[in-house]
Parts: sequence; C-alpha cells; structure tokens
Amino acid sequence: MSVNKLILGDNLEILKAMGNETIDLIYLDPPFFSNRNYEVIWGDEGEVRSFQDRWSGGMEHYIAWLYERVEQMHRVLKPTGSIFLHCDWHAQAYIRVQILDRIFGLNNYINEIIWCYTAPANVKNRFPQKHDTIYFYGKSKTYFFSTDNIKIPYNQETVARTNRGAGDTGLKVKGDAEERHKNRLDKDGKVPEDYWIDIPRIQGNGNERIGYPTQKPEALLQRIIACASNEGDVVLDPFVGGGTTVAVADRLNRQWIGIDQSVQAVKVTELRLDRQRGLFSAPFSVQLHKYDYDTLRYKDAFEFETWIVQQFGGVSNTKQRGDFGLDGKMPDNTPVQVKRSDNIGRNVIDNFVSAARRYNSGIAGETSNDMAVFGYIIAFSFGKGAIQEVARLKLEEKIVIELVPVDKIVPVAKKPTLSIEITQSVRTEKEVWEIEFTAKGESAAGIEFYGWDFNYDAEKGFRAEIMLDKDGRQAAKLKAGLHTVAVKVVDNDGLEGVEVIKLKVNGTVERK
Ligand SMILES: C[S@@+](CC[C@H](N)C(=O)[O-])C[C@H]1O[C@@H](n2cnc3c(N)ncnc32)[C@H](O)[C@@H]1O
Repeated sequence: MSVNKLILGDNLEILKAMGNETIDLIYLDPPFFSNRNYEVIWGDEGEVRSFQDRWSGGMEHYIAWLYERVEQMHRVLKPTGSIFLHCDWHAQAYIRVQILDRIFGLNNYINEIIWCYTAPANVKNRFPQKHDTIYFYGKSKTYFFSTDNIKIPYNQETVARTNRGAGDTGLKVKGDAEERHKNRLDKDGKVPEDYWIDIPRIQGNGNERIGYPTQKPEALLQRIIACASNEGDVVLDPFVGGGTTVAVADRLNRQWIGIDQSVQAVKVTELRLDRQRGLFSAPFSVQLHKYDYDTLRYKDAFEFETWIVQQFGGVSNTKQRGDFGLDGKMPDNTPVQVKRSDNIGRNVIDNFVSAARRYNSGIAGETSNDMAVFGYIIAFSFGKGAIQEVARLKLEEKIVIELVPVDKIVPVAKKPTLSIEITQSVRTEKEVWEIEFTAKGESAAGIEFYGWDFNYDAEKGFRAEIMLDKDGRQAAKLKAGLHTVAVKVVDNDGLEGVEVIKLKVNGTVERK
C-alpha cells in the first residue's frame, strides 16, 4: 500500500498526528523571512492573516514558528533519514544555529548546499543576492546517502559558466581538467560539489512552469531525492507549494506525502500529478477540509457506509448483509444504520426499530437502561415523517433514536458549478482559429482558479495545460477538425467542477 497523499492544513497539526520514525527524507521550502508580496497575496485568507501576525514579531517570531515544526519533522524521521531545509540570506544563519543545530545536533550537520542561479538584478549598493542555502542534516550518523544517480559530467560547470559569460571560465576549465585527471577512473562523471551552479531557476515561460510563484526546479529536487532516498522510501514535503517535490518523488518511484495550508497549492499539485500520471503510477489521495456532497452521495453504497460509520467513531459491519441489516455499531454496541440518501422517511425508522430490537436482544448481558440511546441513523437529511416518528418513540415508548445528518459527522459542501462560452473566434492562419473561451464557476465558497485541457481525452483523464488561471478566460489556437476541451474549476474549499465541450472547427466554430 502506498502512502501517497496530499493534505490540506497547517503542517504543525498534521505532523503532530504522524507516527514516530516513519519518514525517510524531508525537503522543506518554508516561506522565507522575506515579507515578499507574493507570500501574502498567494495564500488563502487564513494564510494572509497568520502570515501577518506571525511575521510582525520579527525574526524571533519566525524562528519560533519554524522551530516547533522542525522539531516534529525530526521526530517523524527514521534514524537513517535526513532533512534538506531550503532557505536564503534572510534567515539562513538563524535557521542553522537556532533550529537545526539545536534539534538535529551539530554532529549531524552534513552539508551546506549553495544553489546559485542568475536572474536580472537592479541593485547598485550591494552584490545581487543570487543564491539559496539548503541545509542537509541527518537524523543520525547512519543516514542514507548514495552517489549512484547524481553524478554530473566533469565539464558541466564549465558549460554553465560559459553560458553565463566568459568572466571566470578560464580558471574553471583548468580546475576541471585537474579534477578530471584525479578522478579519471570514475567514468560516470563526478559527484556534484556542495555548490550547485548547473540548475537554472524556473524560467518565465519554461515548460516546467505551472504558475506557482515560489516554484522550485525539478532538477534540484531530482538531485536531493536521488541522493538521499531509495525507491519505495517515503519522502515528505510539509510546505509542498506547487508540488515540485512530490511530482519528482512520484516519478522516481518514491512514496510521498505533501502538506500545504493553501487550497491553491494542494489543488495545483493534484493537477500536476494528474498530468504526469501513467499506466503504472501509484494512486494517491487528497485530504481537504470539506467533502463534496455528490461524491459522497453517489459513492459505492457499501464503501460509503463503512467509511461514515468509522468517521462517526463506530465499527462498520464487515458483511454486506446480515446483522439484521444494520450497518455498524458504536463501541458500546449501540447499533448504527446508514442511509446514503436525502429526506429519508418514516419507514426507515420503523425498519430500524425492529432490526435494532432483534439485534439488541441478541447481545448477551445487555442491561436495559432507560433513555440510553437505542440506535443511530445516519443520512444526508431526514424527512418530516422520520423526525415526528422519532419524537413520538421517545415520548411514548421511551426509545431514543438519534438522527445524525452526514454533515454533522464530516463537513460537506456542494461542488462548484461551471459553464463555458466561446466568446470570440478569429481565423489567424489558413487552417487555424484562435478561440477565446470564458469559463464561469459558481460556488458558495468562492472560486480559487481554473485549469484547462485543450486536448481532453476521457481515457487519460484531465491533463491541465493551463493550471492556475484566476480569471477563467483563455485563448487557444485550434486547427480545423474536432476538438474536446475540458475546464476544471476549483473553489476555496478545494472542491471542483468539470465541464467538457466538443467543438467542430471548420470554416466556422461550432459547439456540439
Ligand atoms: C515557498 S512555498 C513552497 C514552494 C515549493 N517548494 C514549490 O516548488 O512549488 C511555501 C509554501 O508553504 C505553505 N505554507 C506556509 N505556512 C504553512 C504551514 N504552516 N503549513 C503548511 N503549509 C504552509 C505556503 O502556502 C506555500 O505554498
């Protein structure tokens, strides 16, 4: 069974609920102590508030906030596990001395990796800050490290430097030649040094770019995951953001857990994972705060009964039939009945009472306790007849039945609705039309973003080409022929709606 899952929530709470020594590798890229606007703008509202509160206390606050999280990370790591903490000049010295050395111990400090990149800078009073720091600590001296899949060509750095400008290339070529000589027996290349200059930042229009503002390059995570874990190991990213870590971990056949408190991060990561799924991809689950009514309501009945009884704190009936048609019982043996429907009527109460009577009489040593709960009925909603009968039973027969709506057990919401319109189409070349689509989602929770698949194939599922469209408006160039376009809308609870439209482009654009 794979553990692959995305979890919405504050990582502190989620880490606290995780078992000791269950994780092989942790990579974290927490918000830097930077006060940069995107960190405020790009979160959900909860994040905006906590961000402001948290950081208004300055460095001390930030370090205390991160400390308690890293403490939990240390606890969940296996003795052979390790952590890579990604940070930058804002807080790196504090993080190392006040968090990592204290929690992991100076003895377990392995590397300070400097990731260098270039990007335009317009500063005249200092040197442009163009590197990040990644601290690598082991949980113990027996941490896992492998150089098998991380070697780079000897001249890779020379190439990287030449690309950046001739400046110091001369020196570097000489350095590399010496090294090549020293390691000439090692034909696969060399282990990268602790400064990484061969991994560019995510480019503005690069393929990998999904639109998440602090997205890290896959090559960076590839190197970290390859050196510090094996296939099948569990990789955790408690600040998963746009999902780089889990996307790479999944491709490298690692198990993974990603946590983020932003709905947008969790949902964009889900789209990213869906997009790279293949025949042999392991399944994953997404844990949000709300459950979609339709998904629950039209789920397999037995699966639903089992799940909701457990959520309610009971034990479900493992047999599909038997036990007088009851679906489960509470720890004190009180019977539970589940109806996966709305507005259930009086007949359900009648049947339940007779089934529960037969069941109760079969329990050895049962004491009849006046006004104790006789049984629970769980359903999406209850009709007037059922409610009246339950009141009558209590009053006249002293039989207490509790009617429990599903949304009292788990938070349920309705998924967003969605409509798509073609708002413009222009022929741009002989056989090519540029078509503008406008999607409109509606949800009580508010709309988070839209994702677009202009080449939708039902068998492959939704594969977003555009992932983080805030406005619901896109233009696509489509050739003459038949096209299937799918749009997904995600609301602030992370619930989603999908709409698929078929188009015939041929002289005119026709919606079918
Ligand atoms: C710098 S980004 C991570 C980017 C990621 N490495 C990537 O490649 O896309 C930091 C993330 O931490 C999340 N975050 C901040 N505080 C959090 C908390 N307490 N629990 C969970 N996630 C949190 C933010 O929502 C944001 O997505």
